[in-house]
Amino acid sequence: MNARLQPLPFSLGVLALALASTGLALPQEAPSIATVRPATEGNRAPYEVAFTADGALALVTEYDEGALALIDRATGKVLRHVPTGGQEPTGVAVASDAKLALVTNSFSGSLAFVDLQAFKTETLRLPGMPWDVVLSPDGKTAYVSVSQLDQVAVIDVDRRQVVARVPTGRRPRALAITPDGRVVVTANMTEGSVTFIDTASRASVGKGPTPAVNLRGVAVYPNGRLAYCVGQRAQNERPTEVPLGIWSNQSFHVVPNGGRNGLDNIWLDLVGNEVSDPDSVVFDPQGRRAFITCSGSHALNVVPLRGSLELKVVSGVGAYPRGLAFTPDGKEVWVANNLGNDLAVVDPETLRVTRRISLGPTARKDPHLAGRFLFNSATIVKGGQFSCNSCHPDGTTDGISWKFTHVPDALGREITRNVRSLRGEIGDTGPFRWTGHDTALEAFVQHETVGLLQSPKMEEAQFRQIADYIRSLPLPPNPHRQEDGSFTDTAKQGKLLFEGKAGCVSCHAGPKAGGGRKVRVGTTPPGLELDVPHLAGVYDSYPYLHDGRAATLEEIFQRHNEEKLHGSAHTLTAEELKALLEYVREL
Ligand code: HEC
Ligand code: HEC
Repeated sequence: MNARLQPLPFSLGVLALALASTGLALPQEAPSIATVRPATEGNRAPYEVAFTADGALALVTEYDEGALALIDRATGKVLRHVPTGGQEPTGVAVASDAKLALVTNSFSGSLAFVDLQAFKTETLRLPGMPWDVVLSPDGKTAYVSVSQLDQVAVIDVDRRQVVARVPTGRRPRALAITPDGRVVVTANMTEGSVTFIDTASRASVGKGPTPAVNLRGVAVYPNGRLAYCVGQRAQNERPTEVPLGIWSNQSFHVVPNGGRNGLDNIWLDLVGNEVSDPDSVVFDPQGRRAFITCSGSHALNVVPLRGSLELKVVSGVGAYPRGLAFTPDGKEVWVANNLGNDLAVVDPETLRVTRRISLGPTARKDPHLAGRFLFNSATIVKGGQFSCNSCHPDGTTDGISWKFTHVPDALGREITRNVRSLRGEIGDTGPFRWTGHDTALEAFVQHETVGLLQSPKMEEAQFRQIADYIRSLPLPPNPHRQEDGSFTDTAKQGKLLFEGKAGCVSCHAGPKAGGGRKVRVGTTPPGLELDVPHLAGVYDSYPYLHDGRAATLEEIFQRHNEEKLHGSAHTLTAEELKALLEYVREL
């Protein structure tokens, strides 16, 4: 079946929906991944791969170890692990003379300059979850997606300084650069768009929108005017009766300021079974095919860029595959299996895994690896089209709202539920859900897997593993605070208001500014009370309120507080409200 559409006829979208709800053309059971297991013996968590220009050396970020692995490409021997001077390294780029590598330390918020001759690392502070990095062909300028601040930082590599910041769409992550260095593209994960940046003027020349979110991967054609991206499209306008078709995994060709569906889009679920959570994408050197890691399905998918559409899959490429790269000679594709502690080396012609390269032993073992694996696996979802990670990418939120049918609480099946972030060690913030319907996290996980995911039978121990993993998810440092982690002066004024005149602390109390109390603040029908949500890390989980009606913190009080029930915010001057919300932003 040819699922490439130019442009997408609406009827086929509807057809896909219809098929999804009857379950006809879509897979009923997730494909077997019996051979895929997380590396319980120790996982360094390979994230992204880059090669030196001569192809001799592979560089792999090790997310769990704060290190960069240097691997001899020919023998597969790990030569050394160089510390990156920060936590959760993600993106990596290497200079063409192979003397310097740049790495984004996503969690701690810095860019590492790794000297590949002295094996020493220096870091540049770059708060806001810097996620990916690309280098200009002359190696003088680096571009870093600062995901939480919705911008790309332009960095002078010699001076190790930020020289410009270019606004993008919401939550940019993956980046790609044209071979001539003239254009950088960003996959704006939550907005579902691609920003095209002209590197000469350091300005955006337009966005290519898509109807998807979770746009995790992007590749760009050499002319810089056409990009290819992968994401997930939510069918959240209808209730989540069955877990089939509520998420579709898709790829798009987009141009700056193009149409909403891109130039074309492919419904990967119509042509493949192991396409959940498309993560990263690269072109083959001839520009004929796109190689896409589908992290939820633990698979690598290969999609032709032109002509008839025949999708090929490398099943079981490894546990939770994320980054991938072609060797410069085009003879191999290396895939980083983030929870498998290894790289799968794939022959791009035969699509066989020719070798597996283990990253070796770890300093510590992740006690939550089993839960982390389940959280990210589509194999626990009936139909295998999405995972917990689809709605909670890396523990955060997809930025949209859903109509749940499996929760017998006051929101029912018609009031939409804004997805919540799970970051910030939320174990002690119960009860859970906007209504506080679930008191224990284990029970919550069980309700979600049985009711929403309609999972194949799972054991008690597995619910516990998932719950424990969620409990462990830390908040990253807040990029809005001062360098030493303290509140700005404005936030300090806001704190006084929060605890005084504005009357917030009577509900939002304690270390996470939340409370085990149910109230109505005028955002729900009379009689419908909500659990007071915690506010720690709230800057990073917009939109706001139970149904996501407020796009910003300001809107909560300026547009959605008509009944004046939300604390005493309505009594504040504009300046006071500004200070108050700066404090909330820095929580
Ligand atoms: C289809 C999207 C979707 C999927 C898939 C999903 N969630 Fe959620 N999650 C939500 C929404 C929406 C809420 C708010 C629910 C409510 O208030 O009833 C939520 C809330 C939560 C909460 C409560 C947070 C709090 O502070 O109250 C936890 C915990 C959670 N999800 C974990 C999971 C886990 C674990 C999985 C996989 C088993 C999962 N979610 C799958 C959308 C999703
Ligand atoms: C009477 C209890 C109460 C008081 C007082 C109160 N809140 Fe709330 N707050 C709530 C409830 C309940 C919600 C959830 C409302 C909804 O989702 O529709 C909420 C939601 C919020 C949210 C959105 C959270 C999210 O994740 O979407 C923010 C931010 C917030 N409050 C800040 C404040 C500030 C600032 C004040 C002081 C002006 C304040 N609140 C006073 C009960 C209260």
